[in-house]
Amino acid sequence: MPTTNNTQNGRLAGKWDARYREAGSAVASEVLVENRHLLPAAGEALDLACGLGGNALLLARHGLRTTAWDLSPVAIERLASEAEGLPLRAEVRDVLAMPPAAARFDVIVVSRFLERGLCPALVAALRPGGLLFYQTFTRDKAVAGGPSNPDFLLAENELLRLFGGLCLRVYREEGRLGDVTRGLRNEALLVAQRPA
Ligand SMILES: C[S@@+](CC[C@H](N)C(=O)[O-])C[C@H]1O[C@@H](n2cnc3c(N)ncnc32)[C@H](O)[C@@H]1O
Repeated sequence: MPTTNNTQNGRLAGKWDARYREAGSAVASEVLVENRHLLPAAGEALDLACGLGGNALLLARHGLRTTAWDLSPVAIERLASEAEGLPLRAEVRDVLAMPPAAARFDVIVVSRFLERGLCPALVAALRPGGLLFYQTFTRDKAVAGGPSNPDFLLAENELLRLFGGLCLRVYREEGRLGDVTRGLRNEALLVAQRPA
């Protein structure tokens, strides 16, 4: 029911607003920082559930016309003021109620956000040849910390299954191998391309 959803969204936004009032500056995620050389020189990019928009700022500074969506008005206000002069539009938007339109973006970045039901819409929102950068938390924890609700955590190799229709370019999931004090732990990352 819309009323229930509105109430739930209001609570969720309030929770994130409180965090973002206190948070330090925006940081881009590893999946984008380590693989930014794969980005096209021009085009339209989306940072979905952007939070303070570290990824969106990187995309816009790279020269992409960037859209950033999040439920939290505080995050969007902070991002909009940091993005002055950049080709970046930050908007409050419930991405579950209003997913991106089909064939709309050349690049989509999602970090630390998981709604499995949205994944087909993300694939459809890529233009032919477009790139998805995805990074989020795993259920298997090599080190203590991070979120605990299994609904929002990836099963082993799950990103590969969720985006199996795309052409895989980069994948990293280190599990508990070797020296767990090094590397990228408790998260998996993927870069994949919609066939041209
Ligand atoms: C863990 S934060 C990640 C933020 C950012 N992507 C990052 O990596 O720093 C999850 C974000 O998802 C946003 N979010 C949760 N549900 C959402 C929804 N339905 N629509 C839009 N944003 C949502 C929250 O407001 C929060 O900013």
